[in-house]
Amino acid sequence: MARISEMIFPRVTALVITCDSKGKPDIAAFSFLMPISFEPKYVAFAVSPRRKTFENLKEVNEFVLAIPSRDMINIVWACGTRSGREVDKFALLGLATEKAETVKPPLVRNMPVQLECRVELFKEFGDHWLVVGRVLKEHVEKLDFQPVLHYSKNVFATVSGRITLE
Ligand SMILES: Cc1cc2nc3c(=O)[nH]c(=O)nc-3n(C[C@H](O)[C@H](O)[C@H](O)COP(=O)(O)O)c2cc1C
Repeated sequence: MARISEMIFPRVTALVITCDSKGKPDIAAFSFLMPISFEPKYVAFAVSPRRKTFENLKEVNEFVLAIPSRDMINIVWACGTRSGREVDKFALLGLATEKAETVKPPLVRNMPVQLECRVELFKEFGDHWLVVGRVLKEHVEKLDFQPVLHYSKNVFATVSGRITLE
């Protein structure tokens, strides 16, 4: 049977930064991701309860959603294959952090887009939990970038450009 990620693709991949109650941060890759509302801005992603990210969200109901660019694909892969339980991914990958303005988890330097979010819904659906976050603060470095597009497992996709309809 085909996986749902092989049926619905490609999906923009985000890096979600969370922290535990002591403030220790973690960063992981998420491609089960969607925007929900223009104003106020809301975003959603789905997290498996096996992730350290899941444990962190139960302790601190805030996160930073960063959208990396395609040249950061190796960072995305490491963030999506290593758990914060076993390794400090910020140290491993040399990711510099800075304090966020409205939430406890930190921002990561040099990301094109970062959204500081507060969890407003956290609900189980099958083998994942839906996380809906309200955007409290946005940081936009640039909007003309190529995102990381995920297909399934270790397969990613590319886009060649935009189509503007008349
Ligand atoms: C491109 C990519 C996309 C991923 N998307 C998701 C996702 O949407 N939901 C999820 O639970 N895990 C997803 N993962 C897996 C987690 O990122 C991975 O299990 C990670 O090690 C979790 O880290 P943590 O334990 O520090 O939270 C994805 C992995 C990759 C490489």
